[in-house]
Amino acid sequence: MGRLAGKVAVVFGGARGIGLATVKEFVAEGATVFSSDIRETAETVEGAAHSLVDATDEDQVDEFVRGVLAETGGRIDVLFNNVGIHLGKPLSDTTLAEFDNIFALNVRAAFLGTRAVLPHMIANKAGSIITTSSNGGVMGRPADPVYNATKHALVGLTKSIAVAHAHQGIRANTVNPGAIDTDMLRGTLMSPEDFEAKQHQLTASTPAGRVGEAWEVAKAVVFLASDESRFVNGVALPIDGGKAAGAMPGNRYSLDFELGVR
Ligand SMILES: NC(=O)c1ccc[n+]([C@@H]2O[C@H](COP(=O)([O-])OP(=O)(O)OC[C@H]3O[C@@H](n4cnc5c(N)ncnc54)[C@H](O)[C@@H]3O)[C@@H](O)[C@H]2O)c1
Repeated sequence: MGRLAGKVAVVFGGARGIGLATVKEFVAEGATVFSSDIRETAETVEGAAHSLVDATDEDQVDEFVRGVLAETGGRIDVLFNNVGIHLGKPLSDTTLAEFDNIFALNVRAAFLGTRAVLPHMIANKAGSIITTSSNGGVMGRPADPVYNATKHALVGLTKSIAVAHAHQGIRANTVNPGAIDTDMLRGTLMSPEDFEAKQHQLTASTPAGRVGEAWEVAKAVVFLASDESRFVNGVALPIDGGKAAGAMPGNRYSLDFELGVR
């Protein structure tokens, strides 16, 4: 029997990357999955429904969650808030519009998703909320201060939900990935060619000596979603090959600066 057998899981940001890998793992572990994203899914996953939802839009999020609840008879056991965009810029180069935009996406999406689902988890006296933060949510990095601020905000939101709602059977935790090989890393933060050329610099800043794979994050999300983690609440879990544990010999931060990435 799967570790999530019988559970209903809602995913925001499930079309590709870490989100899609998690949708697959959730289904493989027996969950009924309702995935959503602003884009079409890169891969149809049998056993998972996919909806087009802008996770920053209050009405769309509420309507999507209402639709899931109508189909499941009022049950959502797992919420995965995974929507995020990156901004790799020093503070002095960051415009107010960029600041507002990334907070309005990274933090607002998790707020709206959680606010829509939480009352139903409370009514059912059970629920696991997992939110994708980052390495940058547990440590300072020079290259992307505003992105990191949004990811710290998600840790604060999560810990507060954990302490406020534990007595109602709710758990809230973050996963904090290091560099993971996804479209965000290859396409948004740098060109695909740069990614190939600069792999050695990315790996040099990670004690494990490599970037991670999306499924390696998904496995941790499954653990936090499952009853195996029933006494784990309010943690920010690095999945980063040891990167958040301490600085590597040499100047890792100058590497981060040069790359403008985590
Ligand atoms: N890849 C990494 O190295 C890395 C490291 C640390 C944290 N993260 C975080 O992991 C999460 C997933 O990132 P990923 O690497 O899989 O990148 P990704 O770009 O493939 O995934 C992000 C997903 O969010 C979706 N999205 C963006 N705006 C949206 C909106 N308004 N409404 C709904 N969906 C929206 C995108 O369409 C995409 O599917 C993000 O929160 C990111 O910040 C990634």
